[in-house]
Amino acid sequence: MADTPNTATKMEKLVALCKRRGFIFQSSEIYGGINGFWDYGPLGVELKRNLKDAWWQDIVRCPGVGPDGNPIDMVGLDCTIIMHPKVWVASGHAATFADPMVDDRETKQRYRYDHVMCYTHPAGDATAPIFAFLPDSPSEAKRKKEAIKKFGAEPLVLPYTSFKDAATLARVFAPEATQAGTLTEPRQFNLMFESHAGPLKDEANKVYLRPETAQGIFANFRNVLDTSRVKIPFGIAQQGKAFRNEVTPRNYTFRSREFEQMEIEFFINPETALEWYKYWRDTRFAWWQSIGLAGVNLQLREHDRDELSHYAKAGAGTSDIEYKFPFTDPGFGELEGVAHRTDYDLRQHAEHSGLKDKLKYFDQELQLKLQAQGMSKEDMEAKIKYFPHVIEPSAGADRGTLALLCEAYTDDPGRPSGVVMKFHPRMAPIKAAIFPLVDKDGMPEIATNLFNDLRRTWNVQLDIKQNIGKRYARMDEAGTPFCFTIDTQTLQDQTVTVRHRDTLLQERINIANVRGFLADKMNQV
Ligand code: GAP
Repeated sequence: MADTPNTATKMEKLVALCKRRGFIFQSSEIYGGINGFWDYGPLGVELKRNLKDAWWQDIVRCPGVGPDGNPIDMVGLDCTIIMHPKVWVASGHAATFADPMVDDRETKQRYRYDHVMCYTHPAGDATAPIFAFLPDSPSEAKRKKEAIKKFGAEPLVLPYTSFKDAATLARVFAPEATQAGTLTEPRQFNLMFESHAGPLKDEANKVYLRPETAQGIFANFRNVLDTSRVKIPFGIAQQGKAFRNEVTPRNYTFRSREFEQMEIEFFINPETALEWYKYWRDTRFAWWQSIGLAGVNLQLREHDRDELSHYAKAGAGTSDIEYKFPFTDPGFGELEGVAHRTDYDLRQHAEHSGLKDKLKYFDQELQLKLQAQGMSKEDMEAKIKYFPHVIEPSAGADRGTLALLCEAYTDDPGRPSGVVMKFHPRMAPIKAAIFPLVDKDGMPEIATNLFNDLRRTWNVQLDIKQNIGKRYARMDEAGTPFCFTIDTQTLQDQTVTVRHRDTLLQERINIANVRGFLADKMNQV
C-alpha cells in the first residue's frame, strides 16, 4: 500500500530522486556548486515548462470570464532583465528593497537581523551567556545543547531583535562564533544584483538585474494601451527571470538567487478593486488546485493589515496562496501573492519619468455612461481620467515546480522503484512510455512507429531494453501516467496493454486507439 513518508526524510529522499532522475541539479556542480542557484535537468525542464505553459494558456490565451460577466482581457509581454536604473528608484526597490543584516566580526558570516533567534537563561540571569542560532540550521541543535549544559535547564527562546542594550548584546554568542559580542549593528543590505552596462564600471553605468518582472509591465503600460485594443479592466502578463541576492538562500529551490516569476498586473477602475481582488484571489487558488495541489497542503491566507507592503496598505487586501512544503511543515510557504497594489507604481513612474498625466487612462466607456446620466463636464473630468488601480497575482515558477514535486512524491514499497511521482497528467514531464515486451519478433518496430506518431503531439518515451519491471520502475520515478506495452498478443490482434500509473490497473486497447485514448485522458484534465 502506498504511504507518505515522514516529513523529516521526505525532503532528503525527494532531493536525491530529483538528482538521480534529472529533475534538478545544483548549478555548476562540477565546481562544487554555487549557493542559491539551481539547474533543471531533462525531466525538470519539462515539468517546469508544463507549469509555465499551463499558466500562459489559462491566463493569457484563455483566461475565462470576470466578475463583470465579460471575457477577461489579457495580453502578454516579454521585457528585458536589465532596465533603466530609474525604474528601480521609481518602484522603491533602490531605497527599500533591503533586509537589515548583522555581520559576525569573528566568522565573517552575515545573517538576516530578524532571522536570528537566541537561547537565553530560563530565570533571566543578567550575566548568563546568550546563544544565538538560525532556526532549521545545524546551529540550532548545537546551541541548544550548549545552553542546556550551561544553564542546567531548558533555555528560553527569544528573538535577537528583542535585545537592545549594549550589556545584553555583549553576552550574545553569534550562531557560529566562539566569543560573545561579535555581531555588528543591523545594517541595510540591498537585494538587487548590480552590473554595469557599457565598458566603464562607474556609477553612471550601474544597472540592476530586475528583482521582479512587474516593473517591466508598468514601464510598458502606455505602449500596450497605444498598440492594442485593451480597455479597462484588462491585464498584462509576463513570465521571466528575476534575481535577488538573498542573504540566506535555502530550502532547495524555495529561496533562490535566480528564479522565475509568473506575474499579472490587472488594471482596473479603483471603484471595482474589491470585486477584482476577490476574483483573482479565488481564481488563482482554484488554478493551483486544478494542476494537482488539490489537497490539504494548499491554503489561502489573507494578510493582516500590519503585514502589508508599503503600496498595499490602503488597498482592498493582500493574500498568499501557500503550500505546506516538507521543510515548512506544519507551517506553509508562499507560492503566490495576490495584492491590490493600488495606483502606487503607475503614479511613481508618472512622476519619475516626467510623463505625469500621460500615464493616466482615459475611460471613454465611463464617459459615455456618465454623460448619459447627465453629469457635468467638470464633475466628470476627474472620474474619467485616472491612474488605474492594479490587482497583482504574482507567482513563482520555481516554487510552483517544487510544490508539484513535493505533492507528487509518494513512497510505495509495493513497487520495484519504492516510489511513484503522482503528477497531474497535465504536469507530468513524460505523458506516456512505449515498451516492446521483448527486443525481437517485430515488437520494437511496432513500438517505434507508435512512438513516432505520439511524439508529434506529446512528450513520450520509447524504452526498448531491460526487463519490463525496471522499465515500469523508471517511469514511476518520472511520474509517467501511462505505459503502453507491445507484446505477443499485439502481433495477433493489434491490441496493446495500458498500465495506469496510480492504480496499476492494466487494460488492453487497440493500437489504433492509443492516440485517441491519450488525447481523451489529457483533455479530461
Ligand atoms: N511583484 C511582486 C513580487 O515580486 P514577491 O512576493 O516578492 O512579490 C512573488 O514575489 C513570488 O515570487 C513569490 O510568491 C515566490 O513564489 C517567488 N519568489 C520570490 N522570491 C523568491 C526566491 N528568492 N526564490 C524563489 N522564488 C521566489
